[in-house]
Amino acid sequence: MIPQYTRFHKNFEKIFQEIKEDTKNEYSWGEVADYIPSLGKADPKWFASAFCSADGQFSQLGDFDGKFSMQSVSKVVAYAYVYNLYVKKGRGDDVHKYVGEEPSGVVFNAPVFDKLGRPHNPMVNAGAIMVSTLLVNEGKTIEDFQHFYMKACNAKRADIDLPLYKEEALTGCTNHALRSLMLSKGAYPQKETFEATKKLADDGLDWYFVQCSMLVDVGGMARFGAMLANNGINPSTGERVVEPETVKATVTLMQTCGMYNGAGKFTKDHGVPTKSGVSGGLMTVIPGIGAFATWSPPLNEEGNCVRGIGMIEKMSNIYNNINLFHKDQKKRDMTRRAYQTLLMTVIVACTSAASGDLETISRLHV
Ligand code: DON
Repeated sequence: MIPQYTRFHKNFEKIFQEIKEDTKNEYSWGEVADYIPSLGKADPKWFASAFCSADGQFSQLGDFDGKFSMQSVSKVVAYAYVYNLYVKKGRGDDVHKYVGEEPSGVVFNAPVFDKLGRPHNPMVNAGAIMVSTLLVNEGKTIEDFQHFYMKACNAKRADIDLPLYKEEALTGCTNHALRSLMLSKGAYPQKETFEATKKLADDGLDWYFVQCSMLVDVGGMARFGAMLANNGINPSTGERVVEPETVKATVTLMQTCGMYNGAGKFTKDHGVPTKSGVSGGLMTVIPGIGAFATWSPPLNEEGNCVRGIGMIEKMSNIYNNINLFHKDQKKRDMTRRAYQTLLMTVIVACTSAASGDLETISRLHV
């Protein structure tokens, strides 16, 4: 729970406005992706951001009514879905018989595989195509996937942008090549005949194109992230969506692989699990606290949303809870009331003085 949420909302709004107005021209750059032609029609000025706490406290700003295709952020949803199905069968990590758990260190759609012939991780295209195929192999349908997403974030709809899907299925030659390479490496679950395995691989690729074309908004994405931040329970319904084991696997892979060949620098600079999408979506999960979701089409070299990274960066300048690897005591703790830290320090100082505990007193920060 974020105490004094109004104060948090005001800071969130102030940061959003600063990036929108961008008087220092720090965030008005980047390329709108156009290798999928329809994506190239996006307005680079579109900008929306949302936050949802692990308790369901919620804010959304800017073009939050805007619907956009989920693209690679859908890889987090698909991985959580399939891993949880395997967990329910008592073997979550069997997913990783077919896809690795290590960063690939190269661009998101590179035709590279690990020493076992597997795609490196579920966040790159090859790995995500494999994950979609495992969902088909589990007998799941796209409707099941849409319902899984809607259950997690109370979205009333999760429509598929059919023209975009058809366009991507037609022009997604690199993804078709990744499917064929994985077939040639025998990476897929093997069926009785090659024809049957190839059919499974084709259906899996088709599923991948559909999931990337699922239309979402920043509110839904922030709520999905908040479900993960709340250890797999939907903050507003109290319903369990995924097991804690699934949360651990999903959020960790977001940290290590979510920002592709920019994951290392992003972790050093911002230290928070984040997943980007080529339509300009960005979802950030702060375990135990909440999630941010931003949408703005201009992308940096690694294909990650420029304004979305800006939101994380500037919010981290205020709060010391976003970067999981560095807790700057001089910054605010969003889980504490303004005076709480000082009050706690005074109380500890008094009790330590009363018991002559000089060592604790010497460690206190005011
Ligand atoms: O398969 C593709 O190339 C797109 N549907 C998704 C790629 C994507 O979102 C990369 N993320 N930054």
